[in-house]
Amino acid sequence: MPIVAPSSENLDRAAKTLRDGGVVAIPTETVYGLAANAMDARAVAHVYEIKRRPSFDPLIVHVLDEAMLGSVAAAIPDAARALIARFWPGPLTVVLPKAAGVPSLATSGLPMVAIRMPAHPVARSLLERSGVPLAAPSANRFGGLSPTRAVHVAAQLGDAVDLIVDGGACEYGLESTIVAFDEGVRVLRPGAVALESLAEVLPEVRLDRREAERPIVPGQLPHHYAPRTPLRVVAPGGGSSDERARAGFLGFARPAAGYAHVRVLSAAGELREAAARLFETLYELDALNLDRIDAEPVPEVGLGVAIMDRLRRASAR
Ligand code: TXA
Ligand code: MG
Repeated sequence: MPIVAPSSENLDRAAKTLRDGGVVAIPTETVYGLAANAMDARAVAHVYEIKRRPSFDPLIVHVLDEAMLGSVAAAIPDAARALIARFWPGPLTVVLPKAAGVPSLATSGLPMVAIRMPAHPVARSLLERSGVPLAAPSANRFGGLSPTRAVHVAAQLGDAVDLIVDGGACEYGLESTIVAFDEGVRVLRPGAVALESLAEVLPEVRLDRREAERPIVPGQLPHHYAPRTPLRVVAPGGGSSDERARAGFLGFARPAAGYAHVRVLSAAGELREAAARLFETLYELDALNLDRIDAEPVPEVGLGVAIMDRLRRASAR
């Protein structure tokens, strides 16, 4: 299993692998990413191959700084600049017109490219040491749970990646919020930056429900982010007691009785803590060979919007 600690030596080795066209799983503050040089179409193709992702799904390009941003984006509207100034480095992705040097495979032929400046020190160090922008989708197989720990990556992709750099558990545990600026300011995917926070900077921001009905990208497909165990979003206690005895319960703030296994996302009822634990808790429950998982709904405010988005997609089969 190619998991390595983020020592200076290993970071240099990972950066060289990236420069040479290899694929490295890297920690970010949201989830682990499967990174390759965004400017190298062959390396990008390898990412799709490892993920077994249909090539129509464009990738997020990670940049170190303003200079690197300028090398991948052709234009930056004022609204995007305002969000960047407030939320970068951090879990916000902006969709901008792409610069000519970005291979169209990275954007699956779209004229726009999704860009994010990560805050995680290991991701930043790899961007700095490699000197190239890194295209990185979440480091899971297509449709699977996003990884929030190095072992999650190893379990799904271990034999297929050159290297997994271990940066510990991801701080947010939930993917970045994606915003497009073509028709007003549209949130394409709710994520680790809450809508309310975006609205403090740009009051005109809106969640694009339309995209959920007419998905152009798999992150927006209804059945994305699914564990193998069937999952339902329900109030606790449904079904017979026999059924519950073979089921798991994923609670927001409180446990429920009668289930074979119970996990609580945040005993304090904090959405931030719940978001950070969501995917890893789903991994844990998924590994227990249960008949089903009952997930309790969380309040749809702040990060609760993104948590419910992921739970609904995990429950759609
Ligand atoms: O937090 C994150 O965003 C993580 C970390 C690794 O940065 N990355 C991530 O990537 O979640 P991925 O590939 O799993 O999801 C990226 C989403 C996909 O649904 C993709 O289709 C969408 O971003 N996307 C990428 N480029 C786009 C574009 N040009 N227009 C619209 N959506 C785009
Ligand atoms: Mg993903």
